[in-house]
Amino acid sequence: MLCNGLPFRSSAPAKIILLGEHAVVYGMPAIAAPIHSLRAYACAGPSDTALSIRSVELDKRVAIDAPVPDDSARAMQRLLQITCDYFGVRKPTGDLVIRSDIPFAAGLGSGAAVSAAAIRALAALFGRRIPNEDLNQLVFEMEKIHHGTPSGIDNTVVVYERPVYFERGKDLDLLTVERSCRIVIADTGCATMTRDAVGRIRQRYNQRQSDTQEAFLRIGQVARDARHALESGKQRRLGALMSENHRLLRHLGISSPELDKLVDASIAAGAMGAKLSGGGMGGNIIALVDRSTVQAVRRALSLAGAVSVIDFVMN
Ligand code: PMV
Repeated sequence: MLCNGLPFRSSAPAKIILLGEHAVVYGMPAIAAPIHSLRAYACAGPSDTALSIRSVELDKRVAIDAPVPDDSARAMQRLLQITCDYFGVRKPTGDLVIRSDIPFAAGLGSGAAVSAAAIRALAALFGRRIPNEDLNQLVFEMEKIHHGTPSGIDNTVVVYERPVYFERGKDLDLLTVERSCRIVIADTGCATMTRDAVGRIRQRYNQRQSDTQEAFLRIGQVARDARHALESGKQRRLGALMSENHRLLRHLGISSPELDKLVDASIAAGAMGAKLSGGGMGGNIIALVDRSTVQAVRRALSLAGAVSVIDFVMN
């Protein structure tokens, strides 16, 4: 069993970006929501040896003071180091185990969730507490290692576990969702690295600045309008805005035939709107449905080639 003998346990949720990805890196607003039912887990316990971290998925163990063989081991070690630095713990001992049900490289925030869960479990091991504001900052530091130039939206939604309206450099803005939204998430099965997608957009921005900036501005307006739709319970309007957002992301060149196929299939099966979610170029789509369409949309997505389909309620 994962946590055998390790008493300090924690978890953090996956997330979707409802609207505004990529443009958010350039200062536009974006909306994200946690998926409470899909989580990363961490457990920690005392030991006599130097603090170590073991990833179940990567089948890898790294000690805080040992040489590291590769980038993923380096990132795991860094997680231990930034947490110990924050708490001022010198010569730490103990064991930390991380495990995640969140698919990796799928735009669902697995990296941020693992970091948040791990830091909370370590805090408990050290007999300390960490305010969400500080945890958010530490997870952001880890996101920089994973993604290069993250906007900060992933760490924020994962740490606070509430829908957020996010703008770089602005104060935390938690959203009130007037009417619960049922969202289907379907995985193309094509893994992508957010870093690559962000790099592709950066290249486009450098080469075709005014067209790219124009698309960002329109995405920003879509996110603002979507906030209003969410806060006033206008789901059809929200769906239309999600589809508009997908068209703009496709224009920016970070959709893919697989993503487009799943978006089209969900609309044809009755979804109110659909789009890629997260970095793009692969990963997941999200579709806004209601109770009467959820099963038909789920079936249509499986038939269209999705390797996994889940749904959750955003509220
Ligand atoms: O981590 P992902 O794949 O959900 O992507 C995050 C969203 C981006 O806007 C593409 C990047 C960012 O840092 O906001």
